Amino acid sequence: MDFSVLPLILRSLMDPEARKVLKIGNEVKRFSDYLAWYIARKVMESVELDGVPLTEFNSRIRDPHLARALYELMETWGYVRVEDGVIKVVRRPPEKGPVMTAPSTLEVMPVFNRIMDTLPEAIKTGKKTFYWKDRESKLLFLRFLDNTGYNFVRQVFARWIGVPELGPEDWVVDVGSGMGLSAVILLKLGKAKVLAIDPDPDSLSIAEDYAKMAGVEGRLETAMGRGEELYEIVKDRAPLGRVKLVTMVSILHWVDSPEEVLKQAGMVVARSYGKVGLFQGVWERKMLPYMVVTWLLGSKMMPEPEDLKGWIRDAGLEVERYTKWPFDMYLLRARSQ
Ligand SMILES: C[S@@+](CC[C@H](N)C(=O)[O-])C[C@H]1O[C@@H](n2cnc3c(N)ncnc32)[C@H](O)[C@@H]1O
Repeated sequence: MDFSVLPLILRSLMDPEARKVLKIGNEVKRFSDYLAWYIARKVMESVELDGVPLTEFNSRIRDPHLARALYELMETWGYVRVEDGVIKVVRRPPEKGPVMTAPSTLEVMPVFNRIMDTLPEAIKTGKKTFYWKDRESKLLFLRFLDNTGYNFVRQVFARWIGVPELGPEDWVVDVGSGMGLSAVILLKLGKAKVLAIDPDPDSLSIAEDYAKMAGVEGRLETAMGRGEELYEIVKDRAPLGRVKLVTMVSILHWVDSPEEVLKQAGMVVARSYGKVGLFQGVWERKMLPYMVVTWLLGSKMMPEPEDLKGWIRDAGLEVERYTKWPFDMYLLRARSQ
């Protein structure tokens, strides 16, 4: 039993929004059981496991991070264990996986299946078939990002970090904005202007189209660039004293230097006493199936919890608020001396 969910359960008795958060959190959990089953089948199809020393299993998988994630996943879901350094298959994933019924899950299942079908190739060669930057992978990546469940969670995040309370003179800087799914929600749920920053120009042009479709393009600015150069980019495009929030939705495992990106975010909000809203999973067992899927699309693995803590501290920031339902979200502020 995850006791951190108890306050939410209590709130959900009175509050319909909390009920929805609880529901989507449970769907995310159920879906991870399905993904773990699918991934386990792909691993068992691709590599020998029973009676194989763990070191040998690791060496058969081209990428060491993938090897570790796959072993941990198989162990967590009770398919294998290690005895004296040798893998023992405890049970094989059944022919049929967990049955999914939630519409928000059924909607993304085919996309996730297609991505997971590329796992055997990645195991063998380290190649990521649907590498997100390739033009032909863009649509798949867009479907992966733009779906009912993820968009609902983005809305919860935007409210949780206080976007609706901002005024028309305020700015939100969305780092690693990609195709603008979070940026559009930040615009729709508030009155502030949004500066969307991403190194990928194709993604930004899709973000602009998205904002137009939603009728909120008047308050959107885009800038091409990396989070590692955030301060320089923002200072030329927005009044620093008015940047009340820097948001980052699932980007720290995509950037080159997450510690630098957090440092820069801290510098940007320092002048305005603003906050950093961070939506970020870490390397933990419940995230393993999602981590493998995003890795297949081109990200790194999610950071170790201790690394994330260290980066936040080294950026001169501290956690003002944290929740793990329906997803790990942090509101960070400048550390008090
Ligand atoms: C999973 S997508 C996040 C999309 C977006 N935040 C959302 O909510 O849909 C990761 C994004 O990180 C961006 N990215 C990669 N390297 C980056 C860097 N060094 N600085 C900022 N963003 C980066 C990618 O271009 C990609 O759009």
